[in-house]
Order: sequence, then structure tokens, then C-alpha cells
Amino acid sequence: MSDRIDHLLTETRRFAPPEALAQASATTSDLYEQAAADRLGFWAEQARTLTWATPFTEVLDWQPPHARWFHDGTLNVAVNCLDRHVEAGNGDRIALHWEGEPGDRRTVTYAQMTAEVKRLANVLTDLGVRAGDRVAIYLPMLPEAVAAMLACARIGAVHTAVFGGFSPSNLRSRIDDAGATLVITTDGAWRKGKVFPLKPTVDEALREPGHGVRNVLVVRRGENEIDWDDSRDVWYHEAMAEAAPEHQAEAFPAEHPLFILYTSGTTGKPKGILHTSAGYLTQTAFTHRHVFDLKPETDVYWCTADIGWVTGHSYIVYGPMANGTTQVMHEGTFDTPTPERPWQIIERYGVTIFYTAPTAIRTFMKLGRQHTQSSDLSSLRVLGTVGEPINPEAWMWYRDVVGGGSTPVMDTWWQTETGAIMISGLASVTSLKPGSAQVPIPGIDIDVVDEAGAPVGDGDGGLLVVTSPWPSMLRTIWGDDERYRETYWERFGDRYFAGDGARKDDDGEIWLLGRVDDVMNVSGHRLSTAEIESSLVAHESTAEAAVVGASDETTGQAVVAFVILKSRFADAMSVEESEGVLRQHVAGDIGAIARPRQVFIVPDLPKTRSGKIMRRLLRDLAEGRELGDTTTLADQNVVDAIRSQLR
Ligand code: WTA
Repeated sequence: MSDRIDHLLTETRRFAPPEALAQASATTSDLYEQAAADRLGFWAEQARTLTWATPFTEVLDWQPPHARWFHDGTLNVAVNCLDRHVEAGNGDRIALHWEGEPGDRRTVTYAQMTAEVKRLANVLTDLGVRAGDRVAIYLPMLPEAVAAMLACARIGAVHTAVFGGFSPSNLRSRIDDAGATLVITTDGAWRKGKVFPLKPTVDEALREPGHGVRNVLVVRRGENEIDWDDSRDVWYHEAMAEAAPEHQAEAFPAEHPLFILYTSGTTGKPKGILHTSAGYLTQTAFTHRHVFDLKPETDVYWCTADIGWVTGHSYIVYGPMANGTTQVMHEGTFDTPTPERPWQIIERYGVTIFYTAPTAIRTFMKLGRQHTQSSDLSSLRVLGTVGEPINPEAWMWYRDVVGGGSTPVMDTWWQTETGAIMISGLASVTSLKPGSAQVPIPGIDIDVVDEAGAPVGDGDGGLLVVTSPWPSMLRTIWGDDERYRETYWERFGDRYFAGDGARKDDDGEIWLLGRVDDVMNVSGHRLSTAEIESSLVAHESTAEAAVVGASDETTGQAVVAFVILKSRFADAMSVEESEGVLRQHVAGDIGAIARPRQVFIVPDLPKTRSGKIMRRLLRDLAEGRELGDTTTLADQNVVDAIRSQLR
């Protein structure tokens, strides 16, 4: 964090949009003026770019902390993402250029995707899924994942996508919390040159009774051996072949639930963030169009996020498809079969807008520019990043090496909870400053406040808050409205507390400084220290555990655990064995993304006199820094004892 503050004090570079880009763009600074003059009128105008079955008459009903946007209007989200483009004569436009990891390719037009989603809507209905029912989607990056989400939206079912890397118990807890009745998955998918099985994880998740899942719909992809339960499992391709091709879409109220997406909070239990229909679609489509200067007729857009995370929802499925975008979707990893893969894909399809994460950019930097130079990247005209702060060095490298020295880099700040981009420049308007996420997008009110809630001045730091409700805001935490109030709204009254530290520089531009709570950010993925701690203490050998996010050159933060073993295990296993066992245990329990980089077996943990673990000291130890203030430690010897264990 101190790095960022140094940069913020010294960063004076600014990069105006290329003149040709600015001149050819429909996006101008007028948007800021319109939104400032009449914020609700501005959002109403954006909402009217969607196709409504019943037009709304009221823009916002705000009963803090509950907002309803456009609530007396009705529409169908899937029709907005598909049918209306076909009806407008754009059915032959390519929706997806899909790239399988082994090199196979598929092209899906808007007409084809519309047909697929209509059939799939009938399949879901035939399986007894009704509006309001929950469907778990446990799928990797396949066109069927997009179809599954849109088919749910089409019939008003609420999807909850679960990242394909999550473990059976994690999948199960989401299925149970959401009360899902159907799971859509695949036999297996390609990852790092091998088929990675997914169906067995679903089988394992559903083994213990007590869940409400009636069917598992299985997309065939990996062609790996899987177990089959005739009473429950249904092949996607077989059901699709039998289903009726036509489907009449029903319109749903603007506030009809669209999806639940689980994200880590400060306690062990993930939060089911609930998003609804019209407001969410309005803001995702608006930001996608104006932040990136999207021209749906000519652009080829590639967002590299996984569909299991919010970026995949908002900036692969809903925003881009509402805008009728042609996009690239890829299965597997960037380095398989070779590290040239992302650049070859950009050249092959003439990608013009590329949206990825800082952790990927830092990995590209480490691999070296020779990989990018093997391909022609001159089609790129706008770049974007999301997920964590991007340091000015990585920003400049991205602009120079990937973007040919002239391409705007849009650093976009937002969260699962905000649903869509909140802070970012606009590619055709903003003079960008490397490392700063710039300013709130038009129509969004954001401030940085001190602990007492008073706005800080330019040049000062504090906590990021959103001061007015916004269209794509979360509506609640599924099944736990009290937690919704407590987590986001208790601290600063009617202002939304984001959980991020931020600073305004002398120009009033915003620099994000990372989380201020016990949420870690590893490669752009949110992980809760409490969730990993509870996984560690659930292991029979563990007496006590503390987890911190230590800074890491590539992944931003890394999980570092400090564990006290029960004495009988401490005697029976070597330190190395215990470390290995516990790292593996967390990976199996939560998923590989949560596997600690390091597990330190320690004799004790540093605590305050009131018994609170001093994570700050553990972070200092994990990062090999001089220890900060230790005067509140109950036992000064503990730190020396721990330090002697660190190798
Ligand atoms: C962090 C991802 C700095 C932040 C869309 C936030 C960022 C959390 C940025 C949300 C950015 C996201 N600059 N930090 N441009 N974008 N973050 O819910 O800490 O997975 O609170 O949503 O990521 O992560 P989430």
C-alpha cells in the first residue's frame, strides 16, 4: 500500500485519448453534465435503451437500504440480450468466437444463440423449473454456460453460478443456501492440457441427502468417464434434441431476481449477493458501451474473466450481449499450449477491446515482451483491467507493450455487490493517470470519508463510500437481510460502505488502496481469512490458526497461514509434512485458489491482552518486515518464538 501512496504523491503523467478515437466516439463529456443536472433522468434515459414490455413510470424508490429501480416496468432480460438483436436484423452477427483449449473452435451467431436459449428454456421448463426457482450453474468457459444463464433469465429462474474450481463442500453449501433444484454442469473441461472432471464434484456434493436438487443437466465436453444416475442425470444434448424449438418469453417485473452470486465476506460464510433485472442490465450495458467506447457493429471484444465470477456475469454475458457485442470466449489457461496463446487469439480475431486482470498483466510482464511481439496486436484500441489495484509500472507496460504505446488503459473499480463498473475513466474522454481508477462514472456518487464519516479533502485518504443508490446495486444478501444492513449500511447510515480504502489525489482523482477488512484479494479473487481459518481448524491436527494476506509480486496478495498443531500431531509429523497436509486440506476443502502459499507451524500466535490475534504483526512477519508497534502484545516472547520458526 505504501507503494501506491508514493506513486500517488509523485505521479504526474497523463495520457489523453488518441485524437482519432475521441473524434469517432459517440461518448463525450456531455454524459457527466447530463447526469449532474438530473441524475434520475439520466438513468431513466439509459434504461430506455433497453426493450421494455411495459414501460416504467417511476425511476427510483429508495427506502434505505432498499432500492427499487424502474420497478413498475416489465421486460425480459434474455430477450434484451438476444431476440431483439435478431429482430433488428443482426441475427448473423457473431456473438461468440469460442476457443477451446485443445485448439477446437466454435462460432455462434446471435440467431444461433437465440435458438439455443429458446430450446434450453423449454428443457428447463420440462424439468420443472419455474420462475423464481434457483438453478446452480457449475460450468467452465463453454458457450453452454452463456446459454444456461440466459435460459434461466428467459424463464425468470434465478441462477447461481459456482466457479468450476470450487470443492464439493463449497458447491454444496451454495446449493443449500440458494435452495437450488437443478444443477447444470459438464462431464469435464480442458485445463492445462488435460481434462479436468466436474461432474464427479457435483456427485460428491450431492451425495449426502438433504438437498433439494432433482436433476443434474450435463453438457458433454471432456468425454471423460463419469458415473451416471438415471433417475437424476440428464444429458444436455439429448434433452435439447427432444425439446421444442420455439419459446414465448414472458416479461418479468424490473425487480425480478436475476442471479445470486456468492462472495467472501469477513466471516466464514460466503454472502449470496442478490441482483435483479432491469437496473442491473441498464448499468452493465451503459458502462460496457461508454467506458470502452464500444461500437457493436465493428468491435471484437474479449474479456478474459471466468463466467463463475461477477466480471463474467456483467462483462461477458449481460452487458456485452445487451449491447449486441461480438466477443471472444476462451476455455482453459493463457499458457496452454504456449504462452503466445492470448496474443495469437487477439491476432486471429482482430480483437479491438481487451479486458483482463492486473495479476494476468504482471504474469505477462514476467514472461517478457517477446511473447507479445510474435503476434500482430495492432487491432487493439482499448484495454481494461479489473479486480485489484494496478501499479503504474504494470499499467505502463500494458499500454506500451500490449497497446502499442497509444491505447487507453481503463482501470475499472467495482465489486460483486456493485454489479457494474462504478469508478473508471471513459476511453474517449478521460486523460488517464497510471495507477488511478480516475473518477465515478456518470450518474454515480462516490466519496472518500474518514472513520467518522466526514468527507476527506483532495490529497487525503480514507474509506470508499457510495453516497446515492445506483441501478445495478445488490438488493440484499440472499436469505439474510440483517447481514446486508450490518455489512454495508450500518457504518455510515445511508451511504454504502464498500470495504475498500481509497485516497483522492490533488486533482480529486481516486486511488484504490485495497481492502480494509479481513478479505484478501488473490489474483483478483476474493477470499476470506475467516473462511480459510475455519477450514484449517476443521482439520484434526490443528489447534488454532490465523491467516493473513501477504503481498505477492504476481498474485497481488497470497494466503499465508500460521498454525498451532495439537501436541500429539506435532510429535507425530514433521513440520514439512504438516505444512503439506494442511495446504492440501484447504485446497480440497475450499478450492485450489484458497491453497495457502505458505503454512507456518508455530508454537503460539501473537495476541492482544484481550485475546485478539494481531494480524498486522503476522503480516509483517509474513512479508519479512520490521515489526510495527508491539506494545499491545500480551506476551512479547511469542513473536521471537514465531520468528525462529520462519525459514
Ligand atoms: C478490488 C470484482 C482496485 C476491491 C469486480 C473490491 C479493485 C474487490 C479494482 C471486489 C480496481 C476491484 N482497483 N481494487 N480497479 N477492482 N477491486 O467482488 O478491493 O470479486 O472491493 O469484484 O476487488 O472484488 P469482486
